Amino acid sequence: MTASEVVRIEGASRSFGDVKAVDGLSLTLNAGEVMGFLGTNGAGKTTTIKMMLGLLRPTEGSVVVLGGDPTDPSVRAKIGYMPEIAYYYPYLNARELLSFYGGICGMDAKTVRERADELLEAVGLADAAKRPLKTYSKGMLQRAGIAQALLNDPSLLVLDEPFTGLDPLARIHFRELMRSLRDRGKSIFFSSHELGETELLCDKVAVMKNGRAVYQGPVRQLAGDGERNLERLFLDVLEKGGAA
Ligand SMILES: Nc1ncnc2c1ncn2[C@@H]1O[C@H](COP(=O)(O)OP(=O)(O)O)[C@@H](O)[C@H]1O
Ligand SMILES: [Mg+2]
Repeated sequence: MTASEVVRIEGASRSFGDVKAVDGLSLTLNAGEVMGFLGTNGAGKTTTIKMMLGLLRPTEGSVVVLGGDPTDPSVRAKIGYMPEIAYYYPYLNARELLSFYGGICGMDAKTVRERADELLEAVGLADAAKRPLKTYSKGMLQRAGIAQALLNDPSLLVLDEPFTGLDPLARIHFRELMRSLRDRGKSIFFSSHELGETELLCDKVAVMKNGRAVYQGPVRQLAGDGERNLERLFLDVLEKGGAA
């Protein structure tokens, strides 16, 4: 693992009974990179993300994150994670949610308050911060989840389908937020079905099919007219069985 490598997955597999959810996957995320993780439903994206977070152990192979084992609390402290589906306490408001997570992360109350104000503003929830989460729309919960993932100022941000449920304006703001984080040297790994967003945001992508990466590489240098390159690549690797 070189100093610039933030995630290194080597030959990782994970089975659930007879189902091989991830099958011999290798990938690398370098510092300051944004990587999109694509694939059909059930391709193994969430399983890979859980291995990256140390929530699931690979049955074979290795996963090294920020130079260590992702089950190590000192490694986890540098990761921000937004799950695919978050189950938050419905009677907390967004500010209380962040205080709750800040407490779990061991952050002091003053820092949490300051960060919470900043983040709620950044994700467009400042006005709704005192309303209970049970009154939030899907997109608002998604924004709260993004704020929660950023609370500990992580070096690595891991987001499982962050665009799902966001309206077009929220998508644009989210994309800008991700870009500003990348410009500050953060590394971002996210799964998505949104090819257009992924193309706009990512330095590189991996496309998963049946637990294997059928394509890994840059987004921008793909041959073509610069339009919908990722969509064409996606179709090529998933349906025709070869990269563009
Ligand atoms: N905890 C689990 N128990 C049994 N099977 C699982 C479990 N988690 C995932 N799987 C299976 O592993 C495969 C990959 O799932 P997942 O990683 O969630 O895919 P994706 O996120 O790409 O949609 C699917 O066939 C899914 O049914
Ligand atoms: Mg998933």
